[in-house]
Amino acid sequence: MTNKILSGRVCLITGSSRGIGLGIARVFADNGAIVILHGRDKATLGQSLAILPESPKHNYIVADLNELEGSKKLTERLIRLHAKLDVLVHSAGILGPKTPLAAYPQKDWDEVIRVNLTVPFLLTQEVLPLLRKGDHPSVIFISSGVGRVGRADWGAYAVSKFGVEGLTQVWADELRGENIRVNAVNPGGTRTQMRAAAYPEEDPMILPTPEDVAPVFVWLARADTNISGQSLEARDWIGRDPAS
Ligand SMILES: NC(=O)c1ccc[n+]([C@@H]2O[C@H](COP(=O)([O-])OP(=O)(O)OC[C@H]3O[C@@H](n4cnc5c(N)ncnc54)[C@H](OP(=O)(O)O)[C@@H]3O)[C@@H](O)[C@H]2O)c1
Repeated sequence: MTNKILSGRVCLITGSSRGIGLGIARVFADNGAIVILHGRDKATLGQSLAILPESPKHNYIVADLNELEGSKKLTERLIRLHAKLDVLVHSAGILGPKTPLAAYPQKDWDEVIRVNLTVPFLLTQEVLPLLRKGDHPSVIFISSGVGRVGRADWGAYAVSKFGVEGLTQVWADELRGENIRVNAVNPGGTRTQMRAAAYPEEDPMILPTPEDVAPVFVWLARADTNISGQSLEARDWIGRDPAS
């Protein structure tokens, strides 16, 4: 058996039924990882699982992260599948309405903050015992350009991503002594349903695909990468070999 850079690494990628999460999952699987996909729809997840290289060795978990106890359900199912976790990628996210704050509905605010920020905090907390059993574990949050510089009409989405940047730094500092690495990645504009909803007039073919932006995630997922508390740009890594 060839020794690939993520061989045997157990990787949970939330929001991997499609989009960036699925792109990361495909590239992780290509590099030897054991992948757990996640999303809300069983049929979609079944189709996504089927396109992963060596699909029988991977699995999926259905859980709605906007439901109370959604992240707990995800963790309980994960524990039934694996005794350890090496890599956790928080890719599940929602855009919410592109509306000025003056008219932003509280219901949407609550949902966006919950799915994009509160759940990544809770899920990290809940899977920590499994990460502690992992091999040089790595937690990867997904940020955004509007999580670094605020922009009109991006409302709770932008605020949630500023929160994700802070969450990354606090977790990184707290887990440094345990050698659990925590970093954030801004994928940059990527060809997905979320991007199309945010920029309906844009030609999606000018954008990188989810697989194109995956190399930085592979590099962070490796057992021998040592950085923590950093915020990286996936664009800087397009076309680079994460094995080198
Ligand atoms: N695309 C971009 O240009 C871009 C740029 C910067 C940052 N990002 C960030 O990258 C991440 C992935 O975005 P994407 O573009 O790949 O989005 P996407 O294509 O809309 O995919 C979102 C994923 O999140 C899952 N999801 C959404 N709500 C959920 C919920 N309540 N419970 C469980 N799963 C849920 C979806 O699963 P189901 O709907 O199948 O349940 C899907 O797998 C997000 O954090 C996003 O903010 C994207």
